[in-house]
Amino acid sequence: MSSHEIVRQIAHWKEKRGAVILAHNYQPGEIQDIADFLGDSLALSRQAAEEPAQVIVFCGVRFMAESAKILSPDKTVLLPRRDVGCPLADTITADQVRQLKEAHPQAAVVCYVNSSAEVKAESDVCCTSSNALQVVDGVEAQEIIFVPDKNLGHYVSRFTKKKVIIWDGFCYVHHRIRAEELQRAKKAHPQAVVLVHPECRPEVIDLADHVLSTDGMLRFAQGSEVGEFIIGTEVGLIYRLQKENPGQRFFAAGNAMVCVNMKKIHLEDVLLSLQRDQFSITISEEIRTRAQAALSRMLQYVTPQV
Ligand code: 13P
Ligand code: SF4
Repeated sequence: MSSHEIVRQIAHWKEKRGAVILAHNYQPGEIQDIADFLGDSLALSRQAAEEPAQVIVFCGVRFMAESAKILSPDKTVLLPRRDVGCPLADTITADQVRQLKEAHPQAAVVCYVNSSAEVKAESDVCCTSSNALQVVDGVEAQEIIFVPDKNLGHYVSRFTKKKVIIWDGFCYVHHRIRAEELQRAKKAHPQAVVLVHPECRPEVIDLADHVLSTDGMLRFAQGSEVGEFIIGTEVGLIYRLQKENPGQRFFAAGNAMVCVNMKKIHLEDVLLSLQRDQFSITISEEIRTRAQAALSRMLQYVTPQV
């Protein structure tokens, strides 16, 4: 079947199923182009919580589809591929969070959404890259256990007065960007404004003009007179930035900024997902309700626009 025909079939099945397609900014271009809603982790969580459609096809990685199911338990949430985990989320288990809580009984657990439902269930509140500092400052405790991303944890600890105990996880895509690479990109594009994701190493963050979530980068570029940007995040975002801002130019901060699992979902998978109801996310009610409390607490925080 040609990709044109697959897109036509997806539209047909979407209508038949009363479904909506949510996709993360790192998805392949062909998926971004058919999504009903594209966004960063926070925007996607919000959309999932408010979404009227009964079936959500979630094009992203597993923790994102799980968050949608946690927030919308009565809906069918379909992840078009089974094998799309997030290696960062896999750096910590619920058991390890319990051990941290035992070691630091006064601390509140702030858990980056890039984590399993079980880890969220052990946490007091979740955060995303766009609201991590607000959440850390907003919770009552003066001591914070921050899991699982060490770079986001370090970034937050630059600005908060609280004591932050940081788990040693990292995202291989962002951690791979080296300061020397970014220096080279800056030399090649001296007029460019540098936007990086807070999952980057501290020394990369030090070289950036702004540290933003993926939606934050989109908002920044849209409202800017600047003609050139160096982007320190996964390449899928550069596709969206370039498509939506054809008059501006976007350069990657480093080579190989590809999240392999984000790139596994193709048009055929989305069609099969709608036709065969695959792969439906299920979470035990006990875990789901506790994880929902942590996610819902996060959604109560106001998010800055950039
Ligand atoms: P955003 O929430 O900024 O889109 O980031 C999600 C993610 O997985 C970063 O690697
Ligand atoms: Fe996980 Fe990194 Fe991929 Fe984001 S880019 S989904 S943190 S592996």
